[in-house]
Amino acid sequence: MSTADTLSTALADLEALETSGKAAFGQAQTGDAVEAARIEFLGLKQGRVKSAQERLKSLESGAKREYGQRFNAVKQALEVAWNDAKTRVERPASVAAGIDVTLPGQKPRLGHRHPLTQTADELIDLFGRFGFAVARGPEVEDVRHNFEALNIPLSHPARDPLDNFYLPGGTMLRSQTSTVQIRVMENQPPPVRVIAIGRVYRPDTVDATHSFMFHQIEGLMVDKGVTMADLKTVLRLFAESYLGKDVQIRFRPSFFPFTEPSVEVDMLWHGGDRWVEMGGAGMVDPNVFRAVGYDPEEVTGFAFGLGIERLCMRRHGIDDIRLLYQNDSRFLSQF
Ligand code: DAH
Repeated sequence: MSTADTLSTALADLEALETSGKAAFGQAQTGDAVEAARIEFLGLKQGRVKSAQERLKSLESGAKREYGQRFNAVKQALEVAWNDAKTRVERPASVAAGIDVTLPGQKPRLGHRHPLTQTADELIDLFGRFGFAVARGPEVEDVRHNFEALNIPLSHPARDPLDNFYLPGGTMLRSQTSTVQIRVMENQPPPVRVIAIGRVYRPDTVDATHSFMFHQIEGLMVDKGVTMADLKTVLRLFAESYLGKDVQIRFRPSFFPFTEPSVEVDMLWHGGDRWVEMGGAGMVDPNVFRAVGYDPEEVTGFAFGLGIERLCMRRHGIDDIRLLYQNDSRFLSQF
């Protein structure tokens, strides 16, 4: 046999080895089958690749180089085929079906409470700790609860049809939660310590700080000897607890028909360059007590009504009230 024949036979055998090895790994369907193919081809002692390597010794020195190069390539190809086969049989059937259960899962996007609801819940919690219970009243109110019992006479500008949503039959969408003060006092004797939270409606032009519908928190405390000092203490404590110790509030003399004296309460806005009205407050007017059958010689009380949107905006540094109503999840997901 000539040298050329020996080399070409050896190369042809290498070719055949590669083909049958790839086929064996390619057809193996189980871990055991892959292992059997590994022993047959890549086994360190008696594997067919090992034998092909031994054959190098029997070749003439001139043929060794070419055979060696080809041998290395075949060995590498079969190692790759072995690895592919291992990965393939280890993959669960779900992967073959296109579902890779070993991939990290996709976290579902959970919803959460709207920032205004969160604010309302926090206010209920805070005032609860000050001893205030929660009262409720209807959004469709009668004129007596929205105005008359609150000492707001027919001639008062607050009753202007341009400033209210009147409905048929002497009813309206309530313009303030002060209505609930009346409902509570009509239904229970003093002492009273309640808050009421809910929607109010006014035909205001919408801008960054106004809306035709917004939320208020109303507070009412009636007992023997309640004073303006109690009112200021409660509101200051509340502002500190809800907005932070560094938040400044101030009281300005004002007028409301249902309180005497009356104040407006402002808070220093985030940024610190302007005061924004937080709401109104005052000592319950004797006429209001008379309207619900309380004796103004016996008890005194304070009341306040604050805008919930503005509290929420101040707390979170929000600058436009409209963001709270647009239901944009990019905005809402921040709270
Ligand atoms: N109801 C008033 C408003 O909506 C706010 C208010 C002022 C409520 C004084 C009160 C109060 O309870 O005492 O503008």
